[in-house]
Amino acid sequence: MATDRRPDDMTRITTPELADVFIEEQIAALKGQIGDKKVLLALSGGVDSSVVAALLIKAVGDQLVCVHVNHGLLRKGEPEQVIEVFRNQMKANLIYVDATDRFLDKLAGVTDPETKRKIIGGEFIEVFAEEARKLDGIEFLAQGTIWPDILESEKGIKAHHNAGGLPEDMKFELVEPVKILFKDEVRIVGERLGLPANMVYRQPFPGPGLGVRCPGAITRDRLEAVREADAILREEFAKNGLEGKVWQYFTVVPDFKSTGIKNGERSFEWPVIIRAVNTTDAMTAEVEAIPFDLMKHLVARITSEVKGVNRVLYDFTPKPSATIEYE
Ligand code: XMP
Repeated sequence: MATDRRPDDMTRITTPELADVFIEEQIAALKGQIGDKKVLLALSGGVDSSVVAALLIKAVGDQLVCVHVNHGLLRKGEPEQVIEVFRNQMKANLIYVDATDRFLDKLAGVTDPETKRKIIGGEFIEVFAEEARKLDGIEFLAQGTIWPDILESEKGIKAHHNAGGLPEDMKFELVEPVKILFKDEVRIVGERLGLPANMVYRQPFPGPGLGVRCPGAITRDRLEAVREADAILREEFAKNGLEGKVWQYFTVVPDFKSTGIKNGERSFEWPVIIRAVNTTDAMTAEVEAIPFDLMKHLVARITSEVKGVNRVLYDFTPKPSATIEYE
């Protein structure tokens, strides 16, 4: 089996060649650990779980069963990309569960941010456990744990979010092939495994997804507005060379309406708030100076293309005093 801890003298993986060596070693280790048994993986489409999936597909092929739970709070195009990359291109054994209604029904009317997070996390485990119970002969559970997760849980900064959460009676042996890697190393390994650049180099996206960008009680129409506005922002940032340069950028649609004019008539609709920040560790953050012409273009597109929106605001607040997310 692979080493449990990152050796002190391990060379940082900074080149394709070093990534290839790691990949070959891991494939051999995974084959040794798993043999002819089956492995289960919750595949979110995030960097870490995607790289784990790609490694396992190379090592054990269709002995890997990936479950992609769409909680209805993903960004535009995300579930489609997971299906395209893993099922169509990499021929993975992928179970896609559209649990949107389950999540949104449970979240209906819930305004407290931490309660929203708990509902999303708890429901996620339930849906995943239900899928796992339908499968026979699974002995292993793969996880995208990375080295900083282990360091932070050892220091007591945060609970190791990956391990655990599943019901007591579900016992699997863990498979964690990227657990000695730092994030930048995971990205290089992912690129060498053939994952698309926009998947490997994507900006951070919180587990509760667009749910925390729809402050207060989530409604389907406001969620749709935040999803569409976010897609426009990402498209424009990519076109204007800001993708990969700005650390995190997204939209928020708060739960209030204001008066405006559309097509010569009074409108009463939501604003979209744009947030774009730079940071190294997410503990503090500075606001990106978006070029004014791009800002005007974003306002024009969002107010004309996103249903229910008549205003666009830019959040100029660094962290602190604000946090990056709104909830
Ligand atoms: P804040 O809002 O605390 O965010 O300044 C710092 C970073 O953490 C991300 N974030 C989350 N990630 N689950 C996650 O997986 C969460 O509940 C969560 N809340 C915040 C946020 O997107 C930012 O990158």
